[in-house]
Order: sequence, then C-alpha cells, then structure tokens
Amino acid sequence: MSATGSRSTSAPADGLERPVPETLDADRIHTARRDLDLFGLRAMQRVLRPVLDSETFRTDEEIAAALEFAPRHRWLLRQWLLALTENGCLDHDPERGHRYRAEVPAPSRDDLSEVCADLGYAREFATFLSGSADRLLDLAQDRLRVQELLFPNGDMVTADTFYRDNLGSRYLNSAAREAVAEVVGRLRPDCAAVRILELGAGVGGLTSEVVAGLAGEPVDYHFTDLSAFFLNAARKRFADVPGMRFGIVDMNADLPRQPRCDIVLASNVLHNAQHIGQTLRQLHDLLEPGGAVIFLEFCRAHCLMLTSVHFLMSPRAGGIRAGETDVRAGTDRIFLTEDEWLGQLTASGLTPRPALPAADHPLAVLDQKVFVAVRDQRE
Ligand SMILES: C[S@@+](CC[C@H](N)C(=O)[O-])C[C@H]1O[C@@H](n2cnc3c(N)ncnc32)[C@H](O)[C@@H]1O
Repeated sequence: MSATGSRSTSAPADGLERPVPETLDADRIHTARRDLDLFGLRAMQRVLRPVLDSETFRTDEEIAAALEFAPRHRWLLRQWLLALTENGCLDHDPERGHRYRAEVPAPSRDDLSEVCADLGYAREFATFLSGSADRLLDLAQDRLRVQELLFPNGDMVTADTFYRDNLGSRYLNSAAREAVAEVVGRLRPDCAAVRILELGAGVGGLTSEVVAGLAGEPVDYHFTDLSAFFLNAARKRFADVPGMRFGIVDMNADLPRQPRCDIVLASNVLHNAQHIGQTLRQLHDLLEPGGAVIFLEFCRAHCLMLTSVHFLMSPRAGGIRAGETDVRAGTDRIFLTEDEWLGQLTASGLTPRPALPAADHPLAVLDQKVFVAVRDQRE
C-alpha cells in the first residue's frame, strides 16, 4: 500500500466491501475529522453546561455528583473535561477544578450524516452518533446502555459501518490482508494449513477481508470472541468457509491455554487487555517462530467516541478498567499511542514493523493504524 493513498483494487469480499478510492481528498478528510470532534465536544458541553459557569471552579467530583454520573463512567467525564480544556472551552485549575470558558465552535456543516459520508460511513453510523449525543446524560447516568444504540434490536449494521465499511477501516483491513498473505507465503511455502487465531473477531470486519485474501489456501482459522452473540452470527456468515471454527476466547484469561499458531489477528480489540504488556508477552509465546501478530487500533480517542462507543469500555460496577495498571495507568486512556504500541511490542520480544498508514498519508489524520510484529525465526 503506497503512502499516497492509492492501492490496487481487489475484488470485494462480499456485498459490503468496497475499495479505498485511488485518490483521496486530504482537505475534505481533515475537515470531516475536525467536524466530528466539534460535534462530540458540543455534545459534552450540552451535558456539562447546566452545572458549569464562568465564575466558579468546580471539582470533577462536584460535577459528577451534580450530574449524577454513574461511578463506572467517571473516567469518561474526566476525558470530556480534558478534551474541552484542550480545545479552549473550559478553564482548568489543578486545585479548584474546571469552569466554563467559551462555546465550542460550530462544525463547518450542520448535517452529521454528510460529515460521516465524507469518511465513508453509512448513514446508520451518523444516526448512532447523534442518538448517543441526544441521550448522553442517560448514558452517563446508566439509564441507557450504549449497546442498545449500537445494536438496535440485535442488528449489526451500525457496528459494521464503524468497524468495516468506512475509508479508514477499508484501508486497514486491506493492509492487514496483505500482511497476512505475506506471512502465509513466507511460513507455508509447502501449502500446509496456516493456523490463524483471531481475537475479539466481533462483527467480522477484518475476518471477511482476510478470508477473501486466503481463498484457495488451506487454513485453520479460529474465529473467537468473548461474546456468544457474535459467534452465532459469524457461524452463519462464514458457514461456507472451509477450515473455519468458532469459539469463546477471553484474551484476558484464556491465552495461556491456546494452541500455538502462525498468525494472531485482532481488530480493535487489543486495547481491551487488562494489562497490555502481559497480553503481548502471551501472544509472543503463542506464536510459532516467524509468526506474526497483525492488529488494528485507534491510537487516539476522537471526541465523538468519548460520547458514544467508549461507554462500552467502562468496567462493570466495582470492576477494573482495561489499562489501569499498564502503560496507560493514570491517564484514563483506553487507546495506546503509536509509540506506546511499538514500545510494548518490542518489550514483549516481538519485532514491530512501521505501522500503516504512514504519517504523510491522507488517512493518517483518522488515527487508525495497522501494526505487524513478528516473532524471531530463530527463537
Ligand atoms: C470494538 S469490537 C471489534 C470487532 C471486530 N474485531 C471488528 O473490528 O470488526 C471489540 C470486540 O472485542 C471483543 N472483546 C472485548 N473484550 C474481549 C476480551 N477480553 N477477549 C476477547 N474479546 C474481547 C468484543 O466482544 C468485541 O467483539
């Protein structure tokens, strides 16, 4: 995949797959990305405005209590306060807390679905984002679960467009497919079945792209997730794929019991690791020498994620949030930065390649990356 955004157009894997266009409008993508942030910041400010004024500083605890924020979501409140402060809309004093400073600027367009369309998202995704923003206080107070908005009536279309059918995901899934093909060609010149373990495969956005790329190759593909909900759907969706099996694997508990494999895939899932250093070390031990872990991750939380999908990341009441004791400790961040990922991969004993897209690519502004890290052939 080139740094200019062009790529070879491969055949669609199924009805939803579309290639990344040959030419990408970097300015349009940049504006859309900024607009999404502004929509998110405005949603946060709407919730916070009744309890903040420009005179009085209020501590995080006072704000949380005044809004009846559920304790398990308070890390999100802290992220909102940080995002609004960084964008010049709140004043922050380390001792006294926050106070109102300025209105969030208006996005360049009023219609969120038009903005989303510029990034290749289907209309359902805009409906989900604006629905979350409209019900934000209910989400914060735990009167509504974000799953009800993301999977309305068990429907996966919204999640599909978020994890698969948009410009960023299409680029990443395609880059991951190429990386898988490279590892398969290198490790299995004798055409023995390549053993793939996919973690948190969920709606199968990455799976369908990789499976299409492996057509004709003998494969032992273990499609796994924490949740039976996704496995049931995947059994139907991939019923015709030879060599595919399905099972529950919790990457925070079950990795030491998994059989060795050639490739571990994970799309938007590794950030769920309770302790990322420990998980990467376990993945290193699972891989055959020369094998690779190939994964997709956001390296920065966009403001509209903080008002929608990030509610999925809150622990159960009284539980521990992912990352509280690893490199993310004390930051309230779920996503690792690119440098943190590369550092953690190296510390686990794997050798990371440069993440894609590169910094000068038009899609780099989306903060989504594909990482490939290889276990040494001589180990
Ligand atoms: C953000 S979704 C990504 C779905 C899918 N990989 C994709 O990109 O199309 C995260 C997935 O990780 C799964 N997950 C969350 N915690 C997990 C864990 N501890 N072990 C395995 N899977 C987990 C969820 O059930 C969900 O399917």
